[in-house]
Amino acid sequence: MKTDKRFDTLVIHHGYDTKDHLGSLSVPIFQTSTFTFVTAEQGEARFAGQEEGYIYSRLANPTVRALEEKMACLEGGEAALAFSSGMAAVSAVLMSLTKANDHIICSQGVYGCTFGLLQLLKNKYHISHDFCAMETEEELRQLIRPETVCIYVETPINPTMKLVDLQMVANVAKEYGIAVVVDNTFCSPYLQQPLSLGCDIVIHSATKYIGGHGDVIAGIAVGTKETMTEIAKTTQKDVGGVLSPFDAWLLLRGVKTLAVRMERHCDNAEKIVEQLKRHPRVANVYYPADVDHRDYSIYQKQMKRGGGLISFEVNGTKAAAQRLLNHLRLIHIAVSLGDTETLIQHPATMTHAVVPEEVRKKMGISDSLLRLSVGLEAWEDIWEDLEQALNQL
Ligand SMILES: Cc1ncc(COP(=O)(O)O)c(C=O)c1O
Repeated sequence: MKTDKRFDTLVIHHGYDTKDHLGSLSVPIFQTSTFTFVTAEQGEARFAGQEEGYIYSRLANPTVRALEEKMACLEGGEAALAFSSGMAAVSAVLMSLTKANDHIICSQGVYGCTFGLLQLLKNKYHISHDFCAMETEEELRQLIRPETVCIYVETPINPTMKLVDLQMVANVAKEYGIAVVVDNTFCSPYLQQPLSLGCDIVIHSATKYIGGHGDVIAGIAVGTKETMTEIAKTTQKDVGGVLSPFDAWLLLRGVKTLAVRMERHCDNAEKIVEQLKRHPRVANVYYPADVDHRDYSIYQKQMKRGGGLISFEVNGTKAAAQRLLNHLRLIHIAVSLGDTETLIQHPATMTHAVVPEEVRKKMGISDSLLRLSVGLEAWEDIWEDLEQALNQL
């Protein structure tokens, strides 16, 4: 299918033709580990790359391929790769871009396990990193060294909801020939498309909005054909964190409703932000589409709407934040995000517990900060639950 259709249509139709599969409306699940060759010569030709065709599902699988084609199209990239988790995608990309003694610049705040991976790369392979708020070009330029090969950005940053100006970062990086990698998990391609702003690789924890139903762990990377082919041949194939055909099918099913789900997540989140801002027991609310957000001007430049995630601080400390969670009746206490159910978590003791306290504070993760992933329920029910819990603090 041509890519001249609108996003809401591409998300449903792109990357699959029913005529190729006996008219099956849904992409078939090719639940097979391997593919047979008709002759020894055919096997030889496939391994030599002289004949197109499948070999073994760690190298490629038709169900997984359909997902990869769709994701490449939605992010506006040439090619995509699917992985068994978001972290498998992050590690495959970072390990592919770097070698010993290289240097990475990272946004001031990343998902806890990405932080853990950066420590691992430093301790075991001498790949160093610096965190950078990326508020100005100068700040970024000061950290660039001859060994800098990658700028790694989360925006909105998990869980502080600060934003990074992607076009500014991409422009600086281009001058030095440095690759910009963006974790686009919080936005999904429906709300933000980093490649169109000049960034080089997009990563997703597809566990979140891409799947959308809280039933699969998966990752995606999107970029140029050349970069994706290199990753496919090395840190995907040889490290091996590939996606299973069934999980690819779950994502293909989930992603069809991405556009409608994202609109509802945003509608609900906007209502909840309004209410939270008025509540006397709430100290601060962080939501990109809120006019009072510190990075509202960046939001206007690069995001379509504010998304389904809100962070807020309650009056008090860790004990108050935990008390709020324990009073909730409808909203589940759980890490992860982007699901149909509203989920809430306490970053300091959960997703970012691995980050040392002084680094956490520098990132802006206080002990009273909570991250709410607003689901698809009636917003009034979500608010009533939050309000009764807040009123008991
Ligand atoms: C922003 C972000 N990136 C990456 C990941 C890792 O994804 P996964 O849990 O699918 O490995 C997460 C998980 O929560 C995340 O929130």
